[in-house]
Amino acid sequence: MKHYLQFSDFTADEYDYLLTRAALIKKKFKGYEKHHTLSDRTLAMIFEKASTRTRVSFEAGMYQLGGSVVHLTTGDSQLGRSEPIEDSARVISRMTDLVMIRTFGQDKIERFAEHSRVPVINGLTNEFHPCQILADIFTFIEHRGSIQGKVVAWVGDGNNMANTWLQAADLLGFTVHVSTPGGYEVDEKLAFNGKPPRPGCYKVFKDPLEACKGADLVTTDVWTSMGYEAENAVRMKAFADWCVDQEMMQAAKPEAIFMHCLPAHRGEEVTAEVIDGPQSVVWDEAENRMHVQKALMEYLLLGKQGD
Ligand code: CP
Ligand code: NVA
Repeated sequence: MKHYLQFSDFTADEYDYLLTRAALIKKKFKGYEKHHTLSDRTLAMIFEKASTRTRVSFEAGMYQLGGSVVHLTTGDSQLGRSEPIEDSARVISRMTDLVMIRTFGQDKIERFAEHSRVPVINGLTNEFHPCQILADIFTFIEHRGSIQGKVVAWVGDGNNMANTWLQAADLLGFTVHVSTPGGYEVDEKLAFNGKPPRPGCYKVFKDPLEACKGADLVTTDVWTSMGYEAENAVRMKAFADWCVDQEMMQAAKPEAIFMHCLPAHRGEEVTAEVIDGPQSVVWDEAENRMHVQKALMEYLLLGKQGD
């Protein structure tokens, strides 16, 4: 049994399969073709933080695969009344086939997975957001072809998205140019679980404009992630120079695209001109969450599939 708790849980070969499979699944969806590979299977979704895309993409995706979903939040389950996560895992995994969790610390999802009888998917933790990066890579390939050897500029917080980009670069052979304000750097030990990364898979830049030079993809995220709201005022000041604007996009390659996992704050981490401009692929990126996650759920439950 496999879990998907971090991007590094899968090999490059598994990603090759998943990305190809997601393209097939997307094509069938666009052609209104049925793809009921998970009939009678149930996905439990546990949300300890807010969500729009993750909920809709997993829920709609599971129904489209012929399965069903159970939606739990901290507030309306015993999770909010301090039932141990291990006990929740034992119980939920006896009645469902697959579990997706969005929570705070990565340790919590790991403890859940340890006590689960069924595969567990990370729907975002403070440390990682692997489903989003899977969708982002799928989106890059759709628009520009292979991501191998390409440069991704990360402008902003050294957060869950940044950590996951680093893991993906390590595994799939591209480079991330990271520029964060002082005090918000990526933590290499955390991102790579204490293992040495592939040399050159990421480079740190003080100046965000320098990080964008020659990039194939420029990407950013909110300045204040969920769970860090108390730091909002301090972050607004610290991140003021890390707003992706037209000058940064012009420093990137002429064919560069812009991504943001959303929700976005126009005028903070990105200007409206960029996110609503011709280089932005954020709506494809959001939609692709569903297609890649359908491939992921199928893979975790059935393994590799033919047509
Ligand atoms: N990108 C993303 O995970 O969005 P939600 O927080 O809306 O799920
Ligand atoms: N880094 C953001 C991503 C939201 C999808 C957060 O954790 O809130």
